[in-house]
Amino acid sequence: MADVYRLLRPFLFALPPETAHALALAVLRRPALIPRATRPTSPALLGGVRFPNRLGVAAGLDKDAVAVRGLAKLGFGFVEVGTVTPRPQPGNPKPRLYRLAADEALINRMGFNSAGASAVAARLRRYRAEPADGHVPVGVNIGKNRATPLAEAEDDYLACFEALYGLADFVTMNISSPNTPGLADLQTRTAARALTAALATARKRLTPAGSQSKPLLVKVSPDLPGDDLEAAATAALEGGADGLVAVNTTLARPPTLRGKHAAQAGGLSGAPLRTLALDAVRRLRRCVGDGPILIGVGGVTSAADMRAMRDAGADLVQVYTSLVYRGFGLPRRLLAE
Ligand code: FNR
Repeated sequence: MADVYRLLRPFLFALPPETAHALALAVLRRPALIPRATRPTSPALLGGVRFPNRLGVAAGLDKDAVAVRGLAKLGFGFVEVGTVTPRPQPGNPKPRLYRLAADEALINRMGFNSAGASAVAARLRRYRAEPADGHVPVGVNIGKNRATPLAEAEDDYLACFEALYGLADFVTMNISSPNTPGLADLQTRTAARALTAALATARKRLTPAGSQSKPLLVKVSPDLPGDDLEAAATAALEGGADGLVAVNTTLARPPTLRGKHAAQAGGLSGAPLRTLALDAVRRLRRCVGDGPILIGVGGVTSAADMRAMRDAGADLVQVYTSLVYRGFGLPRRLLAE
């Protein structure tokens, strides 16, 4: 599949990035088009969730949960859908996604284009109703609408949580996207603790008596200065979160970037994010100890990168950008080695 993708990539890369993305999703939403192969298994049990393997799809690739089955068929052990906003919204004006091919990176300022919580809930309800053969755990990443003032952000997170908790295997609170004005301010100690506590309280109400609650994770930014990363993580855990997803895209622009779009506004992902992501995972594991779930994401392109993420303390690893550069065969290659 690697060779096939080498032939296909120039054609895909001749298209605007978002068109190529839509084309890839069009294939992934028809799993019958993807050749059947056995899923690489090395099961892990975390927070009561059984993962067939530790490699997942990061949030943002399948924002509206249209391609979960297809992504699972590529070999991934779990899929994080979203970010989902309570009400549908179009996101930022296009173009809003750029390839930095020389850097194996992307810059995006999508701005939470989302079909909204009810539409995603309907899709996940269908997924749950299907025969579970070939299914993998699904995380739902939730956010706020752009039009919602920051002071009312909690209502948005709660609305998403109430609509989607019952259909998710875990929920990620996204308070670190750089593309929704003010969102990352929710990572301050007070805001992170309050927001997590509100969702943890809702979770108690939504968890049927006698059944185990599902993990609540908080996704953090690599751009927090000083020890604000540790502060955000500690506050989230104090509020009742079970773990962290580290990291979201960065506003930083390493001086090594060669791609001509390096000055575009938005979050940078892919290979140039790797060092920041590894560093954040290492710091977070040191800070929170062994208990909390830690998902490592950012610049993972090879089996060695995946190993490094695990060594830094990640229980699970996610990819997005390297799938664009390496193709659908990537998960099987990462998991085979
Ligand atoms: C993202 N990412 C992202 N994260 C998130 O929590 N919610 C989202 O909606 C999105 N959307 C999104 C769109 C695009 C086009 C990209 C490239 C990325 C961030 C993503 O989940 C991940 O944290 C970073 O991309 C770093 O991982 P990679 O891409 O370097 O493997």
